Amino acid sequence: MNRRCIGVELKPELAEHVAEKFSPKELVTDVNIISADSTSQIAKEKIQARLEIMGEEKAQFLVLHPPYDDIIKFSDKKEDLSNCSSPEEFYDMFEKVAQNGYDLLEDGRYAALIIGDEYKDGECKLLSFGCEQRMEKLGFKLKAVIVKDIQGNERAKGKTANLWRYRALNGGFYIFQHEYIFIFQKPEKKVKKLKKVLKNAKLIA
Ligand SMILES: C[S@@+](CC[C@H](N)C(=O)[O-])C[C@H]1O[C@@H](n2cnc3c(N)ncnc32)[C@H](O)[C@@H]1O
Repeated sequence: MNRRCIGVELKPELAEHVAEKFSPKELVTDVNIISADSTSQIAKEKIQARLEIMGEEKAQFLVLHPPYDDIIKFSDKKEDLSNCSSPEEFYDMFEKVAQNGYDLLEDGRYAALIIGDEYKDGECKLLSFGCEQRMEKLGFKLKAVIVKDIQGNERAKGKTANLWRYRALNGGFYIFQHEYIFIFQKPEKKVKKLKKVLKNAKLIA
């Protein structure tokens, strides 16, 4: 889509694998892949440095697609959000990532959070809404909730629909076929908002 982006991934080998999908030119001009811990200050500083090289002060859009707690374990690293010892620790680490994102996003701009729920120990745990609430706590305003149909995703991962059906029935769950995309806005500063209103009023007049 001809957009410039900065991506952050904890696992260096995965970051390298993604980088291989782009041409050397794109990796200089448009696509920046950083291998770092998204909860950290150093990741924030690396993103800030990349933004500066791109001639920008802040990001125009933020996409968060964290692990869904420990449903899929990505690594044994202690910084890995899929390696937390409790849901509370997961939420706290997620909040640090979201805080970094909030600080790096321009006022008035939008953020998307892609996340599903956890079906574990015979219970449906609303991981998605837990993370959504942490984002509101930081100041993000919820603008939309998109229910994403994930039927077919499991096949792409080499699993069959029957396996999911078996798991759901085995755990006493309804077969789930969705995850969420939450859309947020970082509030605009009052002065900036007023300037915009005045500009629009001038245009109308
Ligand atoms: C659900 S996957 C999303 C992968 C990819 N960003 C995408 O959207 O398709 C979650 C990713 O978060 C990475 N991850 C886990 N903890 C992290 C952290 N502290 N900092 C950066 N990445 C992390 C995992 O290695 C995994 O690749």
